[in-house]
Amino acid sequence: MTEILTVLGLETSCDETAAAVVRRHADGRVEVLSSIVGSQIAEHAPYGGVVPEIAARAHVESVDAIAEAALAEAGLTYADLSGVAATAGPGLVGGVMVGLSFGKAVALARGLPLVAVNHLEGHAVSARLGADLPYPFLLLLVSGGHCQLLSVDGIGACRRLGTTIDDAAGEAFDKIAKAMGLPYPGGPALEAMAEGGDAGAFQLPRMLLGRKDCDFSFSGLKTAAARLAEGVTTDTQRRDLAAAVQTAIAGQLAEKSERAMQAYAIEHEGRGLRFVVAGGVAANRAVRARLQDSAARHGFSFAAPPLAYCTDNAAMIALAGAERLAAGISDPLDAVARPRWPLDEAAANASPTHKAGRKGAKA
Ligand code: KG4
Ligand code: ZN
Repeated sequence: MTEILTVLGLETSCDETAAAVVRRHADGRVEVLSSIVGSQIAEHAPYGGVVPEIAARAHVESVDAIAEAALAEAGLTYADLSGVAATAGPGLVGGVMVGLSFGKAVALARGLPLVAVNHLEGHAVSARLGADLPYPFLLLLVSGGHCQLLSVDGIGACRRLGTTIDDAAGEAFDKIAKAMGLPYPGGPALEAMAEGGDAGAFQLPRMLLGRKDCDFSFSGLKTAAARLAEGVTTDTQRRDLAAAVQTAIAGQLAEKSERAMQAYAIEHEGRGLRFVVAGGVAANRAVRARLQDSAARHGFSFAAPPLAYCTDNAAMIALAGAERLAAGISDPLDAVARPRWPLDEAAANASPTHKAGRKGAKA
């Protein structure tokens, strides 16, 4: 398909109500015409984390105004759109249903195609919002709910190489920050606290050292850091512990990414090696720097989305929708909201890291 596609994206899977308009040109060039993110941080901060019911209600209250603001900023109306893309999962299902229902209403009222987008596919394409990044690439998707290494061949074509067996890296940042008394959301607060700290002042466990696969684990680090936090009294100690935690998380992400790079390079016979990091934790400068170094040492180019597109946003959802529409893919108006929705369903089914009724990895 060679037409120009102008897509409204909607994102409501966690604590951000976001809408964006993205234009995909016939040659594949991408333009973000607007991207609006309404944060609910103030509503959740008193509870130290996201409260699903509060999130869903806040999405209901603001989704229409945010969608209209995105159109206004793009200088467009609903009549100018070629399609609507809404996150259909994974995420907090009450919130997902709000954005998806709104997207369905727009699609029905305006006679537009609907794309029910996997939030993870949004993160997977997010680096393409800021640069001309061709497929295929090796992706580290690292956010509050997910920590995975994926071989991405194109839209809808992801193969999982590794995943977390317990917590996601962003979750580890958030929970350790909370144990250290830092404000929510913990990742950015911990990064600020780590500034100037001495990472060598505290010993933290290195996880899964004996394993040869590309899986992650952060629960041991989380427990050890929370215990150390109890004994921390001075500001210097807090800075040192924050630096040690950040270094340990960045180290594990780099170690497993390098293992995946080695396997990926063999599979691709050393050609067109591209490494991409995306998701909220990709906003962390220490993590980026460490991964950039890993990529360079293994002969991979390095890309990460602009900071605004690392954390949750609707531009990435609009782009995933536009790429799907360009490939001739859309969804029916009875598409369902899915609290869990792995990108590589075959791998997730073959090796479930989350069994029904147990706490564990999110996807
Ligand atoms: O992608 P995202 O906005 O939402 C999910 O899909 O999960 O990621 C949010 C996560 C949170 O855990 C947050 O603490 C973390 O990304 N995060 C960071 C930073 N900025 C956001 N972690 C470390 N350093 C940061 N600068
Ligand atoms: Zn996300």
